[in-house]
Amino acid sequence: MASTRSFKPLAHKDLLSLAQLTSDEVQALFQTAGEFKRNPREFLHALEGQTIVLLFEKDSLRTLVSFEVGMAKLGGRAVYLDHRTNRIGQREPIRDYAKNLERWTEAIVARTYEHSTIESLAKDAKIPVINALSNLYHPCQGLADYFTLQERFGSLDGLKLAYIGDGNNVCHSLMIGAAKLGLTLTVIAPKSHQALKKVIDQAQVFANDSGAKITISDDPAVVSGHDAVYTDTWTSMGQEDQAAERVKVFQKYQVTDKLMRSAGPDAVFMHCLPAHRGEEVAADVIDSPRSIVYDQAENRMHVQNALLLHLLGSKSASTKLKPKHHASVLA
Ligand code: CP
Ligand code: NVA
Repeated sequence: MASTRSFKPLAHKDLLSLAQLTSDEVQALFQTAGEFKRNPREFLHALEGQTIVLLFEKDSLRTLVSFEVGMAKLGGRAVYLDHRTNRIGQREPIRDYAKNLERWTEAIVARTYEHSTIESLAKDAKIPVINALSNLYHPCQGLADYFTLQERFGSLDGLKLAYIGDGNNVCHSLMIGAAKLGLTLTVIAPKSHQALKKVIDQAQVFANDSGAKITISDDPAVVSGHDAVYTDTWTSMGQEDQAAERVKVFQKYQVTDKLMRSAGPDAVFMHCLPAHRGEEVAADVIDSPRSIVYDQAENRMHVQNALLLHLLGSKSASTKLKPKHHASVLA
């Protein structure tokens, strides 16, 4: 039984960065994510007959499983293409990936090293392309994180989030998300590992519109007075050869119980995972009642399903992108 419900399409075909979403679209996604979370059985046939491809150059637990299981819960299916040992574009041009995959599937979910690989797929494919993490952004994570905060605090209004650690892909998506949604975000990172200037500048442009307050600091003491403290690994995928040096650079940015207490008596702890206890976070923080990391992980599936529904679940979405001419099998 196909679904009779139609979901409002997003203005952009793809999700490469949270910069492509308006705050109204984010709220529409959160509304759908909440409905799916409360009553998943209502969505069992929503994307029946549709297929997404999961094209991954890097390891994954949460992203891979949440997209695969999530798509099954919508009545569709996912095909995994493991590119961990050869990059997309090595065996054949990236454009040919796009032009082939759009003939069989309804969306491409890609995790790559270079952000430009995902941009190329999006440019050449008629079907939606979702960034499942690149070296520059992790928008699905950012969506899940703000959904989790809204769920936890009832509203994002006036919320103060501190991100401490490496100014990386996760940090970049949190910055763009905060700027779009009007939050206060303090990014605390050593001067040598701050967020990229182009991302800071873009976030500032969005913040000027939304009233968000984005502050950049290298001083862990400014964590005081925040509702949530977020950290991520000091060594992202692809940086393994710098791990020893990074452990030294980031030492004073570890999230300890003392740092959490200085943030505020009720401050929650967040992490996209995977976490490294004893490095970016102390075990007695991530394994404490303050920690909402598994809520974040669970919510990955709910917000991604909302994203798939709004990208693929409008009544015209699955038909308009099919090739116009099908050769007869009898010809
Ligand atoms: N947070 C996150 O993206 O986890 P995975 O790398 O396991 O997908
Ligand atoms: N910054 C990390 C996030 C992993 C989900 C990385 O890119 O490896």
